[in-house]
Amino acid sequence: AAVRGLSTTAQLSKINNVTVIGAGLMGSGIAQVSANAKLNVVVVDSNQSALDKAQKGIESSLQRVAKKKHADDAKAQTALVSSVLDRIKMSTNVSDSVKDADLVIEAIVENIDIKRKLFAEVEAAAKPTTLITTNTSSLRLADIGLNLKDKTRFGGLHFFNPVPMMKLLEVVRHNDTSDDTFQKLMEYGKAVGKTTVACKDTPGFIVNRLLVPYMFEALRLYERGDASMPDIDVAMKLGAGYPMGPFELSDYVGLDTCKFIMDGWHKQYPDEVAFKPSPLLDSLVDAGKTGRKSGEGFYKYK
Ligand code: NAI
Repeated sequence: AAVRGLSTTAQLSKINNVTVIGAGLMGSGIAQVSANAKLNVVVVDSNQSALDKAQKGIESSLQRVAKKKHADDAKAQTALVSSVLDRIKMSTNVSDSVKDADLVIEAIVENIDIKRKLFAEVEAAAKPTTLITTNTSSLRLADIGLNLKDKTRFGGLHFFNPVPMMKLLEVVRHNDTSDDTFQKLMEYGKAVGKTTVACKDTPGFIVNRLLVPYMFEALRLYERGDASMPDIDVAMKLGAGYPMGPFELSDYVGLDTCKFIMDGWHKQYPDEVAFKPSPLLDSLVDAGKTGRKSGEGFYKYK
């Protein structure tokens, strides 16, 4: 066993260079935690204004962290912010940005065709040892990675929003992910300060597989007239100790996102009762009531 342990360790070359593709909500957070762990980061987006926004977002998030950590020391605050920012480069060119990467993390739009196209470009330009991962919430890794020539280096790193705050990272292995790739992804997760859990390539992995059907079951409870929305929210907060009730949580996540995830699963598994769509949710999304971000979902927001 000791010998086997040794050989595994010897195979684990260190991850130094991380390329994050997609500079949105998730990509900018993933870039921040990676740079904070002293890794060199390149953030890529097809849209320059997304990169500009990510740069500003990361800076203000770091400033909040620095203020907490060095409350009375403005110099130390500035040093912390600039030391992390210095490790992040921005680019609009995928091929150039993945050339030196040890690890690529994809966090672009949740669309299978666009992701497949991107992965072909990444595999063609990256080193043969580069680990290639996706942050997808709802798509199957087997589908996203279908056209990859080497599937052993491909896996999932599923972060949670907001990335710098949320402690969990789901490390996903599909049928062809090698043990070495999986180990390295687990080590990366620990290096960026996350608690890692392992999961197979199953819809929603652990958290969303339990959470999304729960949110829809709450809706069905309401649709049957069994209880009111505020009472269901209060009940789950005080009775189950959840920080938000299911309707508050759905509004926070975005009703369009909840619908998108469920519709995708329902299409793939039409007989699974836990994946049944909700007519009420559909009508709210049709009316543009997508939750907090639109000012109204299940509840109204100012
Ligand atoms: P977002 O819409 O905030 O950001 C996506 C970014 O990708 C945009 O800046 C867009 O310009 C860029 N992009 C789109 N196509 C591109 C391409 N071909 N090449 C380069 N850049 C491209 O999206 P968000 O919320 O950050 O989600 C990204 C991924 O993370 C999705 O796969 C989503 O399922 C997953 N995810 C989202 C979570 C959330 O709470 N929003 C949680 C966990 C995972």
